[in-house]
Amino acid sequence: MGVDPGDTDRYMPAMSATISPTGSPIDSNDTVERLRILIAPDPVLRAKARPVGAGDDALVRDLVPRMFSTMYHAPGIGLAAPQVGTGLRLAVVDLMPDEKPHPIVLINPEIIGLSDELATREEGCLSLPGQYADVTRPARAKIRYQDQSGTRQEIEADGLLAACLQHEIDHLDGVLFVDHLSNLKRNMIMRRLAKEMRQKRDDVGR
Ligand code: NI
Repeated sequence: MGVDPGDTDRYMPAMSATISPTGSPIDSNDTVERLRILIAPDPVLRAKARPVGAGDDALVRDLVPRMFSTMYHAPGIGLAAPQVGTGLRLAVVDLMPDEKPHPIVLINPEIIGLSDELATREEGCLSLPGQYADVTRPARAKIRYQDQSGTRQEIEADGLLAACLQHEIDHLDGVLFVDHLSNLKRNMIMRRLAKEMRQKRDDVGR
């Protein structure tokens, strides 16, 4: 009998870990305490996150609604656990198609296929507030992950979702969107961000 070696690290929530009566991880959005988003160049953003394992059930259940709440409030369309200071391979995404919530919880996501065709679109990041740049990535991506119930899922994404999923998975490996730019552009953005954060602090202190 074959045993999937990946299963040793597999996220397996307990039977009691029902997400919510309606199945939505964002039910209690308004009452959930939000998390502080780390801003680059925080070293936590540069660390490689570890896989979510069987023992992380309670942590994931606590973190996911707070990550959604934090992301929607920011507002953003994706947030990875390292951005809120937790080094786990976990991210939440919601592109709000048709202005309606469509939350996706990605546990241990992996890219299993990328198109040769590339696409360029403007990206930003909640950890680099106010900074945007054109980033070129594969136009389509196939992602394998587990959802919050521990079920294996696959997405074949294109367009904005393909870029967003690659961006969030990058975060789990300590990679930021500016790493896809030239050194010159990256340094320019990092300097501008540092300056704007300094100004913001000064304004608050006044
Ligand atoms: Ni980001």
